[in-house]
Formats: sequence, C-alpha cells, structure tokens
Amino acid sequence: MSTPSKPATDTSRRTFLKSSTAATVGASLATIATSQAVHAQGSDLLRIGLIGCGGRGTGAAKNAMNADPKCQLTVMADAYDDRLNRQSRPALERDKGLASKIKVTDDTSHVGLDAYKRVMDSNVDVVLLCTPPQFRPVQLRAAIEAGKHVFCEKPVAVDAPGVRSVMETSQMAKEKNLSLVSGLCWRYDRGVKATIERIKAGMIGDVVAIQENYLANTLWHRGRKPEWTDMDYQLRNWLYYTWLSGDHIVEQHIHSLDKAVWLMNDEPPVSAIGLGGRQVRIEPRFGHIFDHFAVCYEWANGVKTFSYTRQMAKCKNETEDFVIGTKGRAKVLANQIEPTDGDSWKFSGAKPSMYDLEHQALFAGIRSGKILNNGHYMCISTMVAIMGREACYSGQKIEWDKALASEVRLGPETIEPGQALEYSVAMPGRTKPS
Ligand SMILES: NC(=O)c1ccc[n+]([C@@H]2O[C@H](COP(=O)([O-])OP(=O)(O)OC[C@H]3O[C@@H](n4cnc5c(N)ncnc54)[C@H](O)[C@@H]3O)[C@@H](O)[C@H]2O)c1
Repeated sequence: MSTPSKPATDTSRRTFLKSSTAATVGASLATIATSQAVHAQGSDLLRIGLIGCGGRGTGAAKNAMNADPKCQLTVMADAYDDRLNRQSRPALERDKGLASKIKVTDDTSHVGLDAYKRVMDSNVDVVLLCTPPQFRPVQLRAAIEAGKHVFCEKPVAVDAPGVRSVMETSQMAKEKNLSLVSGLCWRYDRGVKATIERIKAGMIGDVVAIQENYLANTLWHRGRKPEWTDMDYQLRNWLYYTWLSGDHIVEQHIHSLDKAVWLMNDEPPVSAIGLGGRQVRIEPRFGHIFDHFAVCYEWANGVKTFSYTRQMAKCKNETEDFVIGTKGRAKVLANQIEPTDGDSWKFSGAKPSMYDLEHQALFAGIRSGKILNNGHYMCISTMVAIMGREACYSGQKIEWDKALASEVRLGPETIEPGQALEYSVAMPGRTKPS
C-alpha cells in the first residue's frame, strides 16, 4: 500500500474539492484522455474489469453487464483465490443471461493484494472498485492514472488523508474526461430523487432539522480457518476493523448521512458531537468497532442532523430519513411528503433497481461523451461519516476543517501477510480524535 498524497492546501468547507490540482494533472493528459473517451463512444465494445470479487463486486459486475448492450467482463482481481475462482467467477458464469458477456479466463483472473495493478495494465475501459474501503484511495488513483472509467463503491476512504487523496483523484478524473460514478446508490433511486428534489424546491418550506436512522441487524462474520494468518483474519472480516472499514458509521450509515448531505446542497456540516459504544458485540472476534453511534451534526445555517445507527440483533429496526421543515415534514425513504398546508404527496412512479440505474448512467455517460463525476459528494459524505466516528470515539466536539486536515492515517504502510495488528476499542474521554 502506498502513502496517500499530501493534503490539498485549502481545506475550508467552501473550497473543498474546488482547489485546482493542476500541479498534479497536466493539461496534456486531458487531451489524451478525451481521445480515449471518444473512442469508447458509439458501438465500440466496452471491456470491464472487476476488483474485489465479493458480494457487492459480483453484484456490481452483473449490474454493469446488464447496463450496456456491448460490454464484456474480461478481467477480475481479488486478494483471495477462493473469493474469485471458487465463488464470484463461477457464480457469474452460471448466470445464463450473461454468458455471452463473460470473457474472463484463468490468465485474466488475478489474485493477491497487488492484483489490482494487473487490471490497470489490461485493456479494460471500465473498472469496478469493490474492495474494502481502506484500499479505495490507492486503487482509485491507479485507475484514473491508467485512463479507466470507474464505478467506485462507498465509502471512498477510512481517514482524512484518504478522503483528500480521493478529492484530488476526482479532479484528475474530470481533467482526463473519465467517468467516476459512486456506489452511493440512493442518489440514483427514482423515488428518493423525486422526494429530495421536491423538498429542495420548498414543498415543506425551509429544512430545519433532519433525523437519520439506520437501526439495523448485525452483518456477516466469516469465522476463522486454521490456515489463515492474523492479517488474513482481519482482511476476511474487514467490517470489524476500523482501519479497513471505517467502522459501521462509515461503512453502512454513510447511505443515510449522504442523504442529509444531499438535502444540504452537498455542503458539509461545521461540527459534530456524539456518543457511541460497544455494548453487545463485544467478543474479540468482532475486532474493535462500536455497535452503536448517535451524532448531532450542525451546518453553518443552524440546521441540525440527528443521526442514529446501530448494528444489534433482536432490537427494533428502522431505516428512514425524517426531514422537518418550516412548512411540513417528509420521509425520504418512504418517498412521502406532508406539507402543513396543501395535499400530501407520495412517489408513485416505476422504481427500477437503483443498482442497475447507477451503472446505466455510467455507461450512457461514457457512450455519449458526457462524463459523470460524483467525486464531490462521495468525498463529503465519507468525511462526514469519519467526522461523526471521531466525535464518538473521542467524546469531543469535532470541527469539519480540523477533521479534514488531519494527518492521521489508519492502517499499516504496507501489509505483510503474517502481520498481527493490535487495536483497542476507543474510549471516549481518553481516545484522542484522529
Ligand atoms: N452500495 C451498497 O449498497 C453496498 C452494499 C454492500 C457493500 N458495499 C460496499 O462494497 C464494498 C465491498 O463490500 P462487500 O460486501 O462486497 O465485501 P466482501 O468482503 O464480500 O468483498 C470484498 C472483496 O474484496 C476482496 N479484497 C480485499 N482486499 C482486497 C485488495 N486489497 N485487493 C483486491 N481484493 C481485495 C476480498 O477478498 C473480498 O472478496 C465495501 O466498500 C462496501 O461498503 C456497498
């Protein structure tokens, strides 16, 4: 793993992502990439490479192949042979509907932590980045440097240096005319989109407060096999290690926080204060992440978002975005708006899969030459989640500018197979914010 790039010089809220990265991206690159993008238009075959062949990666490969009539999956890469060659590739090959589009061979199936580099060296046009979040900044940079269009799963990093690296890479993608579509899939959901558009158009007046609930069950755990090293154990069970996942407020609750960010016109909050802990999921096999977080974010205009996330079994689950305005209220996931005066509204249109829609948008953009770049909001939302985690881990009030400027990088510089990484559970009041 290489070290992420140095921070952008100006990390204030309004200039976030807007500062030029011209020093890192030469103008000539834009010319070269424009010709690549033009080449991909029309009826040309688009070749796809998948990096991270787990549950989401296998699903994303299907969404991508279904999104475009003339595309093929030609290269796959994963850290582990079993995930690629015994699970993902056979599962895709069993799908009769995709048979003509899967052209992966043993020679184009690459295994190992550096396997992503083989995808960048290949002739694929589009790369799907679906590894754990720790690896996103480095793999995204490599993809854009190699001139690939990208589908990039959320979150995009686990720490501030990672977010800043992705900010720079997003700018590089723009300058190279390469598409960058984020896996923050609710942005592509028709009902959610229509609801948020109506709220932003003033259907409930001015937004005063938002409540984001992601109160959910526990997720998978992959156990331990005798042949696995300690590092294998963490990589296989990456959800439970903050250096790999960012903790569940970053890995999962980002979907809710992204809707709050969207409602706030993609501006980040000024500060966050919160509490959290680890009450039920306390055995060592669950690494060191928390099982609940509650964070209050405040924006410059005084709007507050009260955000709650929990991963616990046998509790009341509720995932919803409640929006309170001066003239009414809304539930975003339920696609419902209730103005104080006037008729209530509920989305009633067709709702195709948002996962298909995000890939259709990616491929349509490549074909038409009108590239998409979701870099701004995917970075803001990732950083909002990281900021909330740090507020809860430390017990301190965290300010956006300081959080984004942090130099603390989670995880080792290089990953050694036999390495045993020791991590302790954060203790509010004692743990320093990173
Ligand atoms: N948008 C959504 O709704 C959604 C849903 C689920 C997961 N996700 C995101 O997708 C990503 C993957 O999640 P998942 O559920 O598929 O996890 P997973 O564990 O099933 O898959 C991850 C895969 O990446 C591989 N991997 C790990 N490190 C690697 C490396 N350095 N290089 C290459 N391969 C590596 C693993 O071996 C594994 O096969 C995560 O960022 C997650 O947050 C998004």
